[in-house]
Amino acid sequence: MSNSTMLPDAASTAPVSELPRRKPVLLIVDDEEGPRQSLQIIFKDDFEVLLAADGPTAIALAQQHPVDVAITDIRMAGMSGIEVLERLKYVNPGIEVVMITAYETTETLRQALRLQACDYINKPFDVATIRAAVQRALQRHTLESELRHNTEHLEALRAELQNQRIAEQIAQTRGEIYASIIHDINGPLTVISGFLQMLNQRLSQAQRLEAGDLEFLRDRLRVITRQVTNCIEISRRYLSYLRQSGESAMSGQVGHLLGDLAQLVRVHPTAQRHEFVLHNVHEPVGGRTNGTDFIQVLLNLIVNAFQCSPHPHTVEVRGHLLERPLDLTQFKDTAHTRFLNMESFDNTPPLLAMQVRDNGPGMAPETLSRIFDPWFTTKERHQGTGLGLNIVQRLVRAARGAIHVHSAPGQGTTFTVYFPAVLLPSGNGTAG
Ligand SMILES: Nc1ncnc2c1ncn2[C@@H]1O[C@H](COP(=O)(O)OP(=O)(O)OP(=O)(O)O)[C@@H](O)[C@H]1O
Ligand SMILES: [Mg+2]
Repeated sequence: MSNSTMLPDAASTAPVSELPRRKPVLLIVDDEEGPRQSLQIIFKDDFEVLLAADGPTAIALAQQHPVDVAITDIRMAGMSGIEVLERLKYVNPGIEVVMITAYETTETLRQALRLQACDYINKPFDVATIRAAVQRALQRHTLESELRHNTEHLEALRAELQNQRIAEQIAQTRGEIYASIIHDINGPLTVISGFLQMLNQRLSQAQRLEAGDLEFLRDRLRVITRQVTNCIEISRRYLSYLRQSGESAMSGQVGHLLGDLAQLVRVHPTAQRHEFVLHNVHEPVGGRTNGTDFIQVLLNLIVNAFQCSPHPHTVEVRGHLLERPLDLTQFKDTAHTRFLNMESFDNTPPLLAMQVRDNGPGMAPETLSRIFDPWFTTKERHQGTGLGLNIVQRLVRAARGAIHVHSAPGQGTTFTVYFPAVLLPSGNGTAG
């Protein structure tokens, strides 16, 4: 055969894939001119027809055009129809191939089926038979490509959903962090605002400043400064969370920190009408925790302890040094006790055990089981965010500490927080 490729006009001017709502593409492979032409006449109205007189030309055409269905003679000089089938499937597994057979052995036919030929037609064939075979092949091709398309679409949707879920989670975490900043800064701001009011009152009443007034002003300004520093530290800490930078590493002298804490608590609005007792830590010990975090943890627990009942009650804070690791087997979660952060707890002595105890109403087991969940609160609407204990847990986890709670109705509540600690050279630890 001299002319092995004959493209119809449309296909020769523009690649078939770019045609709008294109006709299906049929590739006819036969080394005899007669059958090739008659097949072209049968299908030219319904298909873009590509003609190939040998295997290599057929493969080249399939590489250049989006062939949907191919008809190939099995017995051809050079590359056999079986090989054409195999290579076409290699170029595009979606091409459906109808084989035309003359005197083939069953072995050849079996091979064709194994290579996923769509159909085979015996020579000589009538027009209706070949039309029906090609029609079936086209239907199968359409169905399979729709299926493939839908599967791809589904995969894309699934991936998009996954991305969206991750984005939502990031946004939610950010939201929680922003809410936490506001929650934590609210405490110092309340103190600042109370002190400023006090100062304004004192200043508006004074005609001129006496020595005593000056001392009063200085003292109050010191507290305000400390609270402002606190706010800055809190925002810095959360900004570092948002940047995903890990550890904060400032160790504080526990005695001094507790002295600061006592001052904060004394002026805290929630402390009014209740009794507050602080037993300071007398061993020379420092935390391996950021000082602001340490105060924040205790302050959240203390404020909760004040808020657990409007009736006057007592909140007691005490700390002591543990020189042995905790026996973790004794901490079992029950209806009235919980132990948190077991997995990440650094149980290497020395440890600092800080206890916050109240003789308030205590908690029912249903409440106790949920108190560390973000947004869980039993307070009236707009009274609490339900973030306080979640923040406590996060801070303690970052410090590689652990939390133990015991609470039962009528028995009050005791939180014990275990912090990894360091022993300081003596004479350096106590104050407050
Ligand atoms: N000492 C306690 N006694 C009794 N219940 C407590 C005590 N501490 C916490 N709870 C319970 O745990 C819940 C969650 O506390 P959390 O500090 O997380 O949020 P909140 O105090 O309700 O809100 P916010 O901290 O924003 O003021 C409280 O609403 C309360 O029901
Ligand atoms: Mg709280």
